[in-house]
Amino acid sequence: MNTSTGPGATRRRIILDCDPGRDDAIAIATALASSAEIELAGITAVAGNVPLEITWRNARFLCELCGYPDIPVHAGADRPLVREPVTAVRHHGESGLEGVEVEMPAGPIETRRAVGFIADTLRASRDQEVTLVAVGPLTNLALVVREHPDLMPKVREIVVMGGASRAGGNVTPAAEFNVYADPHAAAIVFDCGRPLTVHGLDVTHQVLAAPRHAERLAAGGGEPARRLAPLLHPAAGSRGPRFGPERSPIHDPCTIAWLLRPELFATESVPVTVETEGVHTMGSTVVDWWGVTGREPNARWVTEADGEAVLDLVIERIARLRNP
Ligand code: BDR
Ligand code: CA
Repeated sequence: MNTSTGPGATRRRIILDCDPGRDDAIAIATALASSAEIELAGITAVAGNVPLEITWRNARFLCELCGYPDIPVHAGADRPLVREPVTAVRHHGESGLEGVEVEMPAGPIETRRAVGFIADTLRASRDQEVTLVAVGPLTNLALVVREHPDLMPKVREIVVMGGASRAGGNVTPAAEFNVYADPHAAAIVFDCGRPLTVHGLDVTHQVLAAPRHAERLAAGGGEPARRLAPLLHPAAGSRGPRFGPERSPIHDPCTIAWLLRPELFATESVPVTVETEGVHTMGSTVVDWWGVTGREPNARWVTEADGEAVLDLVIERIARLRNP
């Protein structure tokens, strides 16, 4: 597989916007374990899989567990821009990290809110320096785009886990959770004019973890790996049989794996719009595969992954983590 204009070898400065969330946790841990390639400027939390207070706590807990207590974690939007909140407690549990024993984080709390943190970080950066990686509903990022359009040139790229085209939806027949949870925000981000790479269900459904992956992670690393390994087991509410026995997709880490090893993925540049009104299609991502709209492509849509290699990478990275 190839991407002709993939992320390349230089160290990336990123902000990770997330709603941990079981697969968000794997994405956070993979990013933290990859400091040679990824400079994590900070994490911003958004309401999504579980309410904001819990996603924010989980992100702080994960940084501490993984041995990076100094990474700043900022709380963001506690509800979507327009619609009523939805959660994915069925898949992630009430704690958001079902299968993991979560402790209350011990470190000091960041009082600056997510949008302010992202704006300040962009303001202090060079043009096209910061990559925004979003693996939850896009509310925080949409607020940045709306409130700080002058800072958009500082954004090198936006890498999103969200949406679906050929795979169909996982919340409704047409919509994937992150876009469905805040379609108005997704529409703003998808139209913001910065380079956009989208890891939707079309690709994440090719990255299927099985118990053997969890066992390898538990056996091959330090305390963080051992404690996070259950997250590679299919969640209680997952649609196992659809993917084969005891296999379930690992969505969010695809974004980080793509930054690390773009050659594991294939992409296509396409025009994409977000449906914000349809009765049956609210929150769907409409991909113009055949160029029938005549619109210029606004997204690099990830179409394929070497799923086993992505999982190998994630396991190898998280196994490096130590909690002193
Ligand atoms: C997305 O929805 C969430 O439940 C996961 O964390 C992931 O970001 C997959 O549709
Ligand atoms: Ca997520």
